[in-house]
Amino acid sequence: MDRIRIRGGQPLQGRLAIAGAKNAALPLMAACLLTDETLTLSNLPHLADIATMAHLLGELGVQVTMDGSGPDGGQAGRVLQLTATDVRDVTAPYDLVRKMRASVLVLGPMLARFGRSRVSLPGGCAIGTRPVDLHLKAMAQLGAEIELKEGYIEARAPRGLCGNRVVFPFVTVGGTENALMAAALAKGETVLTNAAREPEIADLAHCLIAMGAEIEGIGSDTLTVQGRERLHGARHAVLPDRIETGTYAMAAAITGGSLDLVGARQEHIAALTEVLRRAGAEVTPTASGLQVSRRNGPIRGVDVMTEPYPGFPTDLQAQFMALMAVAEGAAMVTETVFENRFMHVPELARMGADINVHGASAIIRGVHKLSGAPVMATDLRASVSLVLAGLAAEGETILNRVYHLDRGYERLEEKLVACGADIERLRY
Ligand code: UD1
Repeated sequence: MDRIRIRGGQPLQGRLAIAGAKNAALPLMAACLLTDETLTLSNLPHLADIATMAHLLGELGVQVTMDGSGPDGGQAGRVLQLTATDVRDVTAPYDLVRKMRASVLVLGPMLARFGRSRVSLPGGCAIGTRPVDLHLKAMAQLGAEIELKEGYIEARAPRGLCGNRVVFPFVTVGGTENALMAAALAKGETVLTNAAREPEIADLAHCLIAMGAEIEGIGSDTLTVQGRERLHGARHAVLPDRIETGTYAMAAAITGGSLDLVGARQEHIAALTEVLRRAGAEVTPTASGLQVSRRNGPIRGVDVMTEPYPGFPTDLQAQFMALMAVAEGAAMVTETVFENRFMHVPELARMGADINVHGASAIIRGVHKLSGAPVMATDLRASVSLVLAGLAAEGETILNRVYHLDRGYERLEEKLVACGADIERLRY
């Protein structure tokens, strides 16, 4: 299994290109199932999760064609052409869903177009139980019959889905995406209330509109969809990854460096930039994106609570905790979106961080220096928080189980080395 070795202490300097957003790309890829024409997606990141989704779609019978890596040798995102003309299977099997929970995003589009969909129940995962009950409730409200059988969700709507009012009792990103895709092919009007407002939802809505859907309320918590009998092919470019942006913003801050994040969209990480400024970093919009630096003075402790968008993202919580581990003073980080999303805490503690967890909150008392140590990645964002800690620590950090990182960070070592980090992958 590959490992990553980091020798800490180098301030990061330079330009770093932000890739297309993984969490936008996955539902966009699933949206190809809504039409028999070709959906062409560009600016897709080079990631294991994208390959898993392409594999799943291929298994269902979607023709997946990759349009090379672009003229710059793969620096720009990939282009995929997805054609779901001859879908031969409507089953998303356990092996793929277990590997990537976002596989459940094929449920809504298959059900809406073929009247049938069979998706393995994802089961537990490292960051809590993460059920899909709200996805199923939304499908039932659109007229589907749902049965749970032998570990599979069996959804049927032989006469098609019917528009309805769907009220989410709390915000779910994946649930909103599944319902939005299903509603696009349902009969009549659907109103999604308390819908998630993440930029990835807006990206999906814009792509659906390009495919012929009619959606109002984009960016708000109420999405109104006029169902269409059929959708058509379209071309769509995936928006830049706000979580990758935020992660590298914190890499600049934790190492006392300065990074130009090319392609970054400040408006998508406003909650983070506000907190970073309070913590003592400079965040400046530029013509090409965003510059984040910390040239003078220490990082200060700032309290943060994770919330659905536009609040502070749970996907940046672990990285922020690494930053607070070296702050002057204390910080309280409260996780409200997922249960059990503090697995990085014992690993950060191995590097000298002083963190106490009480229920959903953690108190971090900043230390002067972290020290390098062998650590273990437990999930995607936890792993990258250990990379950030390693970049700031004295000495050598060895990160084990790096396959988590490959799910969500494109060419991480390459991007960091180009900005002066001493980091390499040890291949086994
Ligand atoms: C998406 C993101 C993930 C991010 C999360 C929250 C993708 C591929 N993944 O995950 O990176 O951390 O949003 O911003 O976009 N829940 C239920 N029942 C459901 C659905 C969700 O109880 O049917 C709960 C979850 O367990 C969690 C909360 O709702 O506690 C939010 O989850 P949700 O927004 O659905 O996250 P995902 O779409 O899985």
